[in-house]
Amino acid sequence: MELPFAESWKIKMVEPMRKSTREEREAWMKKAHYNVFQLTGEQVYIDLLTDSGTGAMSDRQWAGIMTGDESYAGASSFFFMKETITRITGFEYVLPTHQGRAAENVLFNCLVKAGDIVPGNSHFDTTKGHIEAREAHALDCTIDEAKDTQLELPFKGNVDPQKLEKVLAAHADKVPFIIITITNNTAGGQPVSMQNLCEIRAIADKYKKPVVFDSARFAENAYFIKTREPGYADKSIKEICREMFSHADAMTMSAKKDAIVNMGGFIATNIEEWYDLAKVQGIIYEGFVTYGGMNGRDMNALAIGLDENTEFENLQTRIKQIEFLAARLDEFGIPYQRPAGGHAIFIDALKVLTRVPKEEFPAQTLAIELYLEAGIRGCEIGYLLADRDPETRENRFEGMDFLRLAIPRRVYTNNHMDVVAVALKNVFDRRDTISRGVKIAWEAPIMRHFTVKLEKL
Ligand code: F0G
Repeated sequence: MELPFAESWKIKMVEPMRKSTREEREAWMKKAHYNVFQLTGEQVYIDLLTDSGTGAMSDRQWAGIMTGDESYAGASSFFFMKETITRITGFEYVLPTHQGRAAENVLFNCLVKAGDIVPGNSHFDTTKGHIEAREAHALDCTIDEAKDTQLELPFKGNVDPQKLEKVLAAHADKVPFIIITITNNTAGGQPVSMQNLCEIRAIADKYKKPVVFDSARFAENAYFIKTREPGYADKSIKEICREMFSHADAMTMSAKKDAIVNMGGFIATNIEEWYDLAKVQGIIYEGFVTYGGMNGRDMNALAIGLDENTEFENLQTRIKQIEFLAARLDEFGIPYQRPAGGHAIFIDALKVLTRVPKEEFPAQTLAIELYLEAGIRGCEIGYLLADRDPETRENRFEGMDFLRLAIPRRVYTNNHMDVVAVALKNVFDRRDTISRGVKIAWEAPIMRHFTVKLEKL
């Protein structure tokens, strides 16, 4: 008999969890203005708010924490991190930042100006925020198929080359660079194929435009290339990473995802001129060029995490857990963005809460219901997060409305995933009794979902 699949690690340290009563959760939710970001950690049983900074570090990473070099300038931990990044990505110049959005801030300060257009595949909200805050436009050129949640495609995060070419043909002078997010978080943690990265590179070359990868989950993207794209089955994840990055000129990285650290990020590039510009911005906003918002010990942990998580077994353990949850949801007939993504399951709230009008935020309503049901915290990647159109100030209801269940790396077991699936089934079974959602009582002008105050209708 073939041995079953099992995790590629064992557990050395545990953290107790606490359940709550429905009564407690109702009071906490009300106090949080029906915004899951306003709940405290203790009020949550299974926390699937994000996979960012919530992973469990390995014993090797913790060992690295103890040997960090905290020199202000020239820390050996920086050079260890830089060499690891260069080995994995091929980028020569590395600038640390305290997290991914800081990398965006530093790089975009150098490259983006008012009136610019930055095309890409479903920019993440901070990326879009940093573009729009500079009065530029983030133009989504993701393939249309990504919007059909029930369509099974191996690379649903891809850029539509025709859409991209159209933008460049019309507005090349306004495009500072193309940004490709790997994996495509907003579209459901969906990967981008190597073939697509090649095609984008060819279009970029034709118009002499640089390409930047928003690389938060690049290792998961490489796993999907290895397991889904013809010709890559025999290549190592590290070989695939080198090939992916050979199609880019620079990367921004939130190390809180695929480097499995609780805080950290960086910019890496082969364009010396960009590095020289970014260094100045980095010093102003983050810190000196060899620490940029990070501790020496954290740079050690980042380097080790990056190395571990560009190994097949670690990624396989992770993706198999997402697939495990997806299979349970399939048993219950709960619709989600298919196939399951790299870091999360994205429940198609419009197909679940069909009675809740768009204007009342169905995915947010589902997030509230799941929390009340079992203390499970997911988050809305939908109409609240989409913010208002900067010009018309209208809500943007044209995209998807998902409840994202993001799975932290190496933290929960499949028994926890079972609890999540059954809790969601219980909500799903009573979906026809849910006809009203929420309305906005107060909101910030951008990135409102973090602080929005809602009222239950
Ligand atoms: N890019 C992508 C694709 C992301 O998913 C994120 C963060 C960032 C950039 C920004 O990085 O948080 O380190 O500043 N995503 C988290 C999430 C917050 O929950 O998906 P950061």
